[in-house]
Amino acid sequence: MKFFIDTANLNEIREAQDLGILDGVTTNPSLMAKENITGRERIMQHYKAICDLVDGDVSAEVIATTYREIIAEGEELAEIDDKIVVKVPMIKEGIKAINYFSEKGIKTNCTLVFSAGQALLAAKAGATYVSPFIGRLDDISVDGVALIEQIALIYRNYNYPTEILAASIRHPMHIIQCAEVGADVMTGPLSAITALFNHPLTDIGLAKFLADHQKVSTK
Ligand code: G3P
Repeated sequence: MKFFIDTANLNEIREAQDLGILDGVTTNPSLMAKENITGRERIMQHYKAICDLVDGDVSAEVIATTYREIIAEGEELAEIDDKIVVKVPMIKEGIKAINYFSEKGIKTNCTLVFSAGQALLAAKAGATYVSPFIGRLDDISVDGVALIEQIALIYRNYNYPTEILAASIRHPMHIIQCAEVGADVMTGPLSAITALFNHPLTDIGLAKFLADHQKVSTK
């Protein structure tokens, strides 16, 4: 399973990249606003800075909601760097645009997906990635991981090449559960990724190894 970090914060991206396990980055307008990145030029420069930090795909979301405007904005974003994936909302105009981008060879990420039907439409349009938001489903008492499993079954039935990008990950158990049901990618905050390192027995075991080594080396 690929690991993407869901942030527009350059320090967090750098930290995740330094771990050597990062495969890409996803952003959205809320995450860009959190970093105070405003104005077209600064937004484009920020996406370029992210692309320069990482080796993998970088999702950049369009603000437009009409077909023509999504195409214009998406083509502009795609020109920033080969790593850019144009993130398009799951609306009728968005699906039409994904179909267009797919024919042009521009990578896409269909976002704000909350049902298997929406994921089926994204695959049929030729999306590179589909982003079901599992945390936001859990927030309303709907099983987000079960949706990933359902989409994985459907995509397997028809050999759709669209990759399932489990988004809105909130904690390390989400990551493990997504891996169990066959998500291709997960995107989450740095805190969820680094929490995977933690186990008290690792800490206790390492402390003992080091103490035992110290005992004999000081003799
Ligand atoms: O980037 C989309 C998604 O990961 C948002 O997550 O935590 O705002 O539901 P969240």
